[in-house]
Amino acid sequence: MTADSFPLERTSRPLPDDERSAILADPGFGKHFTDHMATAQWTPDAGWHARGVGPLEPFTLHPSAAVLHYAQEIFEGLKAYRHADGSVWLFRPEANARRFARSARRLTLPELPEEDFLDSVAALVRADAAWVPAGGGEQSLYLRPFMIATEAFLGVRPAHEVRYCVIASPAATYFSSGAGGVTLWISTTYTRAAPGGTGEAKCGGNYATSLAAQLEAQAHGCDQVLYVDSAEHRWLEESGTMNIAVLTSAGELVTPPLGTILEGVTRDSVLALAADHGLTAVQRPISVDELAAGCADGTITEVFAIGTAAVITPITRFLGEGVDITVGDATAGKTTLALRKHVLDIQYGRAADPHGWLRRVV
Ligand SMILES: Cc1ncc(COP(=O)(O)O)c(C=O)c1O
Repeated sequence: MTADSFPLERTSRPLPDDERSAILADPGFGKHFTDHMATAQWTPDAGWHARGVGPLEPFTLHPSAAVLHYAQEIFEGLKAYRHADGSVWLFRPEANARRFARSARRLTLPELPEEDFLDSVAALVRADAAWVPAGGGEQSLYLRPFMIATEAFLGVRPAHEVRYCVIASPAATYFSSGAGGVTLWISTTYTRAAPGGTGEAKCGGNYATSLAAQLEAQAHGCDQVLYVDSAEHRWLEESGTMNIAVLTSAGELVTPPLGTILEGVTRDSVLALAADHGLTAVQRPISVDELAAGCADGTITEVFAIGTAAVITPITRFLGEGVDITVGDATAGKTTLALRKHVLDIQYGRAADPHGWLRRVV
């Protein structure tokens, strides 16, 4: 990954060191942003152009900009990790670049070449390297590439002016090892995706429509929603921002198949690591009935959610209309925590990386 294709214009007003240090001491999630952003623009005639990294600043958009009316928008989420020796690494950024291209195709946005995606992210991390939290803990620099339709017009058609941007935000641990698991609400009121829809794409619209389901989950005292399929309200799909998997007493790690869910980079990584934990990775539909029966008779031993933000989060209970399922003894499972540690250890350079997933940027 070279940064040359996204030349840096350094801000003349970076946040003072002491203020940045205070933020890094307690970054939270998505609350603070670094000094710079990477951008590029697209038109049908010029293709991708105006690449660069410059000061983080607000956009100016015409009030008729297509993204504001028709939600022609996609995004990604990945992290930069500082290792103990001070170096900074990305985890499988090519997988995010490819998913970004797939999302672009679904939203009829121009595909950003994989090289531009990787270069822009690397250039921003290098410009804001001081913002990558120290290694040793579980903090990271969260990176948010996104693409919006900026053309000013009213009418439903693909926009002819598009902007790509990457912003970065220091992120704290989402979940500390040993903490209890989360409770998910199985919503039958709302569904996230249907065949032929946008479930596989990472587009803002999917998240706008998820807010009502999330509030429904919270109203029932749950941490997050678990979506089931739209046709039968029977098959597990995924959580609000994470994929899910169950472990069985037969030594299987089972996760719902692709189709209407987001193809998670962490999900794919966990499937690849399953064998190291004596597990057979299986992708097949899991019904709510199977989940309830399996948790009751012990054939389902652990359940967890998988995603970049929280890595792996134990799920210890499910609630829904007429549904109350407790997983195991309602505490974080041993294998769940071992898988979680394994992924984190690779990301932070504490374990071998036999799959070659890490890319050094600093
Ligand atoms: C709906 C949804 N499912 C799953 C995931 C997990 O994907 P990843 O592991 O690539 O972060 C995310 C997060 O991006 C998500 O928003």
